Amino acid sequence: MNLLPGEAAALLYLAAAVCFILALKGLSSPRRARRGNALGAFGAVVAVLTVLLSTDFAGSNLVVVLVAIAVGCVVAVPAARRVRMTEMPQLVAVFNGVGGGAAAVVGIIELAEREGRAVPVVATTATAFAVFVGATSLLGSLLTYLKLQGSLTSRPIVLPGAGPLIALAPVAGVGVGAAVAVTGNVWLGVVLLTLGLAFGALLVLPVGGADVPIVISLLNAFTGLSVAASGLAMSNTLLLVAGTLVGASGTILTMAMATAMGRSVAGILFGALRGGSTAGSTQVSDRPVRRAQPEDVAITLAYASKVVVVPGYGLAVAQAQHTVAELVTALRERGVDAVYGIHPVAGRMPGHMNVLLAEANVPYELLVEAAEVNAAMPSTDVVVVVGANDVVNPAARTDRSAPIYGMPIINADEAAQAIFLKRSMRPGFAGIENELLFAEKTQVLFGDAKDSLTKVVNALKQV
Ligand code: TAP
Repeated sequence: MNLLPGEAAALLYLAAAVCFILALKGLSSPRRARRGNALGAFGAVVAVLTVLLSTDFAGSNLVVVLVAIAVGCVVAVPAARRVRMTEMPQLVAVFNGVGGGAAAVVGIIELAEREGRAVPVVATTATAFAVFVGATSLLGSLLTYLKLQGSLTSRPIVLPGAGPLIALAPVAGVGVGAAVAVTGNVWLGVVLLTLGLAFGALLVLPVGGADVPIVISLLNAFTGLSVAASGLAMSNTLLLVAGTLVGASGTILTMAMATAMGRSVAGILFGALRGGSTAGSTQVSDRPVRRAQPEDVAITLAYASKVVVVPGYGLAVAQAQHTVAELVTALRERGVDAVYGIHPVAGRMPGHMNVLLAEANVPYELLVEAAEVNAAMPSTDVVVVVGANDVVNPAARTDRSAPIYGMPIINADEAAQAIFLKRSMRPGFAGIENELLFAEKTQVLFGDAKDSLTKVVNALKQV
């Protein structure tokens, strides 16, 4: 028995779709992100309730659906609540993978249910697309999860014949997909699913280390597109709209991350196949640097007029967001114009630094984007680089052979002085030396960022 008439369900779907669009708008600014997230979740609840109330469930199907929802909630809610910030990409990968898997399974069920019936070819084509792309996203996402979790090596895995196979899998997918579209045969659908899984593995295995978050974003776009195709196949407008939104936002995010890293998406995906490794070296430099003590740093900062703090991946590793906020607050209380210089790909996931600093209740006005901070760099007295490296490496401007060449950076070398807080002379993600570390104007305070910052904050009280 369905409790909601079709017109009411269509209106509620429209309301949910509007919530999703407004949620994306909200998520585009840190100030409105929380509200945007809540609105998106509300839209999802409206959508699920509308499905439950407007569907004529046959036999015990309703019980199966409710049990599935309960199991999903029991697994996902604690996982999302407990996840550490640095493990967020893994969580996104798993949620994304199951979304793609669901689209693929729904496609197979659609084929099984409609077998032998006359089905418009548009619907079977969309189903074939959902099966192949959804399966690609499922296995691809699960492998990215294992890579980030350290259960699978994070180095690129290039299987023998991977190059030709990776080109062949989508061609075979199109061929079998066309056969599925014409015949609607469920067993061909299963072959297509297997090809999709194989393509997912071939696509992700050669991607190394910290490039994985970009692939997660790409697979996120794949999941969106497969869900949109499911919507087309089942004539469900909401799935079509929601899937398209995820597909579009995932694609935009992938392109934005690649651009911010000065790389092409093809270079990220296929770099290892062409012989270049996408995982950086971890060779430690033995060149001498000017070492600083916490007291030296405190004095330098206390007598500066303008300070820019550039946070990076090491800030996340050290969980030093509260301590860095303490330092900046202490400096501002002394009348120093101290702000944060935020690079778009600092850390290991989009918006990593914004999220970390929001956790420490840093006012958004103090987070200055790279272009703006660079404009004021020549008049900056001190740049404090906290657990960052690549995002301030001048090689991105000067060294054509550097893997980060062309990546827009924060021009820390243009400030009067630079202070690096890091543990050792190991390089950053790109695996290359940073000449700024050895410059006359640079001092290095060695140690875990949280310990070092605590010592600097304490020393500042004595100045
Ligand atoms: P990195 O270049 O990776 O440098 C991180 C620095 O933090 C290193 O110098 C490391 O040196 C230091 N560090 C690590 N743990 C520390 C700790 N506990 N205390 C103090 N220092 C610590 O980071 P970045 O400058 O943020 O650049 C990000 C890189 O990741 C870029 O190359 C970017 O392209 C890449 N990437 C970013 C993303 C996104 S979306 N954000 C996605 C994929 C890849 P020690 O080990 O010596 O301490």
